[in-house]
Amino acid sequence: MHLAHLRLRDFRNYARLDADFGPGFQLLVGDNAQGKTNVLEAIYLLGTLRSFRGVGSAQMVRHGAAGYFVGATLVAQAEHDLKMYWSAREKQLSLDDEPVKRIADYYGRLRCVVFCTEDLQLVKGTGRIRRRFLDLLLAQTQPGYLAALQRYAQALQARNALLKKPDTDAAVLAPFTHELVAAGQPLMERRRELVPKLSALARLAYRRISNDSEELRISYMSSVKGDFAVEIGQAAGRERALRVTVVGPHRDDLQLQLDDRPAAQFASEGQKRSLAIALKMAQAEYFAGLTGTPPVLLIDDVMGELDARRRAGLMPLLERAEHARGQVFMTCTQENWPRELGRRLQRWEVRQATIQPLAEEGSP
Ligand SMILES: Nc1ncnc2c1ncn2[C@@H]1O[C@H](COP(=O)(O)OP(=O)(O)O)[C@@H](O)[C@H]1O
Ligand SMILES: [Mg+2]
Repeated sequence: MHLAHLRLRDFRNYARLDADFGPGFQLLVGDNAQGKTNVLEAIYLLGTLRSFRGVGSAQMVRHGAAGYFVGATLVAQAEHDLKMYWSAREKQLSLDDEPVKRIADYYGRLRCVVFCTEDLQLVKGTGRIRRRFLDLLLAQTQPGYLAALQRYAQALQARNALLKKPDTDAAVLAPFTHELVAAGQPLMERRRELVPKLSALARLAYRRISNDSEELRISYMSSVKGDFAVEIGQAAGRERALRVTVVGPHRDDLQLQLDDRPAAQFASEGQKRSLAIALKMAQAEYFAGLTGTPPVLLIDDVMGELDARRRAGLMPLLERAEHARGQVFMTCTQENWPRELGRRLQRWEVRQATIQPLAEEGSP
């Protein structure tokens, strides 16, 4: 799978961009604040409908413009056109020029995995970030997961609204609890199935990129230990006191351990960084294993920040992407580009929101 064409209008610092890309390595080279990360952000946005910088659409509209447009031609088994327009007044999403009615029909078309500095939050941040990581992976690979997630979110919201009221009695709450349990069950099942697979992949990835010999283990920490219906019943007192739903998949987490110790507390900065990259590598391997097609890899600056060993650990993933006619977008500055990739790169110069192909030989 590769992105053959990218079109931006009023997206971030790009007034207009039309760029054609082949499969393989695409190295975006340029000084700071020229628009390299913005390109990756746009591609990721088309794939996942969100920014990996964790901001809303309003921030991505070019200053002074009313809305942004991001479009791409995707070459997979077939060719697909993805288009997205966003303004405060109007939102449009289309696939092959048909408006997308259900997001679930759109998700998973452009699978991409981003490696960026924000990844460290997977280790350091709250459970919400790790849940989102799981959910995104499942939404892009399991038909029906996104719909289940939306159903659960609605059930949770409705139930919490009732709990907020001072005089809701148990009989009124019961059908809402029933719906919450029914909606939550499949989410937990999918997560429980996925995490051991992810853990095995992440463990291998961690071994490849870390300098140390700790064992990485990822476990699913479900907020529900046994029977959801029973446990939510047992939590009735706490729920009345806190006026919010206290058990359920919205409280799940992933436990990340190095040699059986929680990574967030005990790991060094370097280990945390390796762990975050290992999680992303696992995500990419999982996508590739499932479909036989590697996802589009978006690597933002991280290559330059990594030592030689960690870079070497990432190489097999990149090489496999290339062999399977996948695609890798990598950003860097003049100083820190990954020379070990040699000449197999298409290099692009990014300068003041323009992208120009660079000649093949020499350094970028
Ligand atoms: N909504 C926006 N409208 C216009 N320019 C923006 C917007 N958001 C960010 N920028 C500009 O984009 C540039 C940063 O782009 P970025 O892709 O992060 O740079 P880099 O090449 O360092 O990765 C900065 O000049 C910033 O001011
Ligand atoms: Mg950048």
